[in-house]
Amino acid sequence: MNDLEGKVAVVTGGAGGIGRAMGRRFGQAGMKVVLADVLAESLDQATRALADDGIEALGVVTDVTDYSSVESLAKEALDRFGAVHVVCNNAGTGGVSEGYMWEHDLADWRWGIDVNVLGVIHGIKAFVPILLEQGEGHVVNTCSGNGGFAPIARGAMGGPATAVYPMTKAAVLCLTESLYTHLEMTGSGVRAHVLFPSGFLNTGIWESWRHRPTRYAATQDRRTPDQTLERVLGRFESAGVHVEFTPLETVAEQVIEGIRANSFWMMGPPAPSDQVVSSKAASILSRGEPDYLVDVLGKHAENTSETGGGKS
Ligand SMILES: NC(=O)c1ccc[n+]([C@@H]2O[C@H](COP(=O)([O-])OP(=O)(O)OC[C@H]3O[C@@H](n4cnc5c(N)ncnc54)[C@H](O)[C@@H]3O)[C@@H](O)[C@H]2O)c1
Repeated sequence: MNDLEGKVAVVTGGAGGIGRAMGRRFGQAGMKVVLADVLAESLDQATRALADDGIEALGVVTDVTDYSSVESLAKEALDRFGAVHVVCNNAGTGGVSEGYMWEHDLADWRWGIDVNVLGVIHGIKAFVPILLEQGEGHVVNTCSGNGGFAPIARGAMGGPATAVYPMTKAAVLCLTESLYTHLEMTGSGVRAHVLFPSGFLNTGIWESWRHRPTRYAATQDRRTPDQTLERVLGRFESAGVHVEFTPLETVAEQVIEGIRANSFWMMGPPAPSDQVVSSKAASILSRGEPDYLVDVLGKHAENTSETGGGKS
């Protein structure tokens, strides 16, 4: 499916950040775009911005934690555009937990798992049968080096970082590998891809707590202030680490190229963070200590990677 012109893309978490950038890039490639997000106002703004640029776009308020909501999204996309060719399971929430993992609020675990893992499963269940019936299509699941490679287990100050976020992203990689195999077994032209957005990205994920749904309300009092991007940048600065943001368009380009090339791994060029992958493989093969689990600042210093922020 090299020619994307006239095809239809659905992007969850499309109201902001990476999802919004992907929607725009798909539109620039001549695709019709369905943006889905739980934030109605931002979704409306994002959809209107695409339409203003002459892109055929539909915004559907969707909660990926609710399967019936994702089913309705699929139905609305089909009703409007008659087909779906690319599905990006991209909606995500960042780490809001504090302390050691045995101290994390159970509500943090439930929220992270429901959005980042169950949300992807819902997208697969609702959309893959549609793609299979068409005999073509792409499923792009957004992962992260933080968890997909190895968890950032220590935060910038040496304390623990959230265990929730990396655990959910490890699950996203694992289930996308299963999806790849299952799709191969069908002999169809439907392909699975896993996206590792690279670089330090200026998105809402650092401050996910701002839109915490009431049904996942914290059940424990916080001992530390909520994370802000400003505070994270301050930590890096005081450690002498200069942060440069990677444009979100670069990530969106990675996705378009990955679809055109039919690549399972949607990654940027070789980066220092690849070292974590080889150190991890070496540790497993030698039955050694997991010495690839590095401090967030140490890692960030050698690689301007998203994983550096700790999402904690
Ligand atoms: N920003 C980074 O550095 C980075 C790096 C690697 C991976 N990621 C992943 O990229 C994806 C997009 O995140 P982003 O960085 O653009 O952050 P973002 O916060 O800007 O975007 C995430 C979007 O998901 C939406 N969302 C949250 N819960 C939802 C729900 N229940 N139903 C529907 N939509 C929901 C949010 O409203 C938001 O618009 C996430 O899966 C994230 O884990 C981000």
